Amino acid sequence: MLKLLSILVILTPSMPLAAEPMGLGRVAMPDEIAAWDIDVRPDGLGLPAGSGSVAFGEEVFVENCAACHGDFAEGVGRYPALAGGIGTLTDVRPTRTVGSFYPYLSTVWDFINRAMTVGYGTELSDDEIYAVTAYVLYSNDLVGDDFVLSRENFTSIRLPNEGGFYMDNRAQVELPRFRHLACMSECKSSVEITMTVKNTGE
Ligand code: HEC
Repeated sequence: MLKLLSILVILTPSMPLAAEPMGLGRVAMPDEIAAWDIDVRPDGLGLPAGSGSVAFGEEVFVENCAACHGDFAEGVGRYPALAGGIGTLTDVRPTRTVGSFYPYLSTVWDFINRAMTVGYGTELSDDEIYAVTAYVLYSNDLVGDDFVLSRENFTSIRLPNEGGFYMDNRAQVELPRFRHLACMSECKSSVEITMTVKNTGE
């Protein structure tokens, strides 16, 4: 017992170091946290108050977005289309758009707010982002031309491919297939090629 105690005494001085504050940094200010905390969740958490109509969204879109994404969100040159492509996901070359691919509308709002305004020299108001998001929905034939998107009705909009996403199950489904022991003796005497990469013709 005495031996054990003396070991503890020797170890003790070095142990609390990790737990002691190092006196670096400071607590973040509420405004600093708010500036970072802009994500919007599928259940609508994080959305600011506001609303915008398809009609107003069309004006905002033509002014700020159409140069790259086309007047009807069909895409210009190599800039991505935001509309169309529904039903193409299993094609060799799928067209991934808000309508064909995205699971949740919150991603659209968040992405436009985060990446498609400031970076391109414009900063849209919350109402303008609601409006332009409504216009992208309209371009995908998901709402009518008199639709108004708001924080209140946001989660009532469901995108066609929501069911196409599922939780990552590779650990259960795929991993066991790669866990077979490699053959080390008396393996196949000849190799037969049964499949090749599909030729897309492009
Ligand atoms: C200068 C060209 C340009 C302008 C202007 C622009 N975008 Fe984009 N946009 C892009 C590019 C490039 C991407 C692809 C970015 C990426 O994949 O990281 C993109 C991606 C997007 C996406 C995601 C598309 C996808 O398939 O994942 C949305 C939604 C979007 N833009 C909306 C808008 C809206 C709304 C506006 C106007 C407020 C706008 N963009 C203005 C170039 C532009």
